[in-house]
Amino acid sequence: MLAKQPFERRILIAFVLMTVVVSGLFSLSIVAVVHFIEEHLVSQELSRELSETLREDISQGHAPRLDSSTRFFSSAHPEYAIPQAYEGLREGFNELFSGDEAYYVYVQQINGQTYMLVEDQEEFEARENALFNVVLAGFLLTVLAAWGLGLITARKVMAPVTRLAQQVRHRDQLHPLAPPLAPDYPDDEIGQLAAAFDSTLGQVRQSLERERLFTSDVSHELRTPLMVIASSCELLAEAPLAPREKEQVARIARACEEMRELVQTFLQLARDKSNAAAFVGDRSLASVAEEQATRWGALMQEKGLDFQMRIEGQDEGQYNATFLATVMANLLRNALHYTERGSVRLILERGAFRIEDSGAGIPVEQHEQIFQPFVRGPQARGEGLGLGLSLVKRICTKQGWKVSLQSEPGGGTRFRVELAAAS
Ligand SMILES: Nc1ncnc2c1ncn2[C@@H]1O[C@H](COP(=O)(O)OP(=O)(O)OP(=O)(O)O)[C@@H](O)[C@H]1O
Ligand SMILES: [Mg+2]
Repeated sequence: MLAKQPFERRILIAFVLMTVVVSGLFSLSIVAVVHFIEEHLVSQELSRELSETLREDISQGHAPRLDSSTRFFSSAHPEYAIPQAYEGLREGFNELFSGDEAYYVYVQQINGQTYMLVEDQEEFEARENALFNVVLAGFLLTVLAAWGLGLITARKVMAPVTRLAQQVRHRDQLHPLAPPLAPDYPDDEIGQLAAAFDSTLGQVRQSLERERLFTSDVSHELRTPLMVIASSCELLAEAPLAPREKEQVARIARACEEMRELVQTFLQLARDKSNAAAFVGDRSLASVAEEQATRWGALMQEKGLDFQMRIEGQDEGQYNATFLATVMANLLRNALHYTERGSVRLILERGAFRIEDSGAGIPVEQHEQIFQPFVRGPQARGEGLGLGLSLVKRICTKQGWKVSLQSEPGGGTRFRVELAAAS
């Protein structure tokens, strides 16, 4: 249980616990010593007084000369008969309480007769109680002081750790020019931790920088050949070509446009949200769906699958067309790949869409895993890498969409994506 507490509280608890144990033991030993001394001193004193009384008063036939708080009883003298309350006490020192009163009773057996001195100890008991109250108050005060001191100490000890955690968590740490952390800290364990963070953060910064350069290089380098293909297609479209050839040129132009959009998608995914303009919504669900339905519907028909698009609810949201098309295309491509016969449906709802197929289905235990990159199911087809669904998942996370799946082996698969309109 202790291990689950925050570190600061653990230090505090240890502090207080230690004080409770040490101070508790100390207080208990004070109480024990007081009791021990009380018993020994008082029994010595009473024993001396009893033998003096017996020797100097009782044996001479005098009345015992005792102070007002002490009384003498004996089984051998009817005038000093032992009251019932004191009968049956063990020999030696006894402490008796009745109501508010407290007595010491010292018992001695001589020749089969019992002699006893009873001393009223109210005064001593009052002093003893006062002492115990002081000890108890001291104990409580020590624990309270330990709590306060522990709190201050724990805060002081943890302050640099908390500060370091905040600094590491701060986003600016990934900035290439962020200052190192270690110089802010003394050269102790925390300083070493800060130095370790510096070296790890340095590596992270380097690889981020490499990735940034890579993505911008790729997009820069791909853009030129794509532009060349696109302008060649435009020129070709104007040339006198047979209808079949024109059709092919149009397909090349479409594929080129798709490729340009995909490069854009990957760039946007690689970048942070800093480039907010890339995330604006500019297309409706229905228009993106229609485009995808035309493209994938034809391929499904070729494979002998029955494809239909159905609209169950009118949606008015505007979405980032590149992202929405990539998500839909990946789910439709999977439906095409993993369905041998039967049907595929693209169903548009209000703020969501579903893709249902009558294919082999996905075992329940794989529903989480298949969204991981490079994970392919048992019925994987063709040359895929297992990246499709992971891309879908990353896009959905980035856009605040939710992708879920229902499937039983042999019972087909239904992917559902809940959309959130782009800002
Ligand atoms: N509609 C579906 N029906 C049955 N299984 C599916 C379906 N969609 C995905 N899967 C399973 O999930 C796995 C992961 O899919 P994902 O799209 O991530 O990768 P892939 O299709 O194997 O390869 P890639 O998409 O990279 O070309 C697939 O290998 C397949 O086993
Ligand atoms: Mg796939």
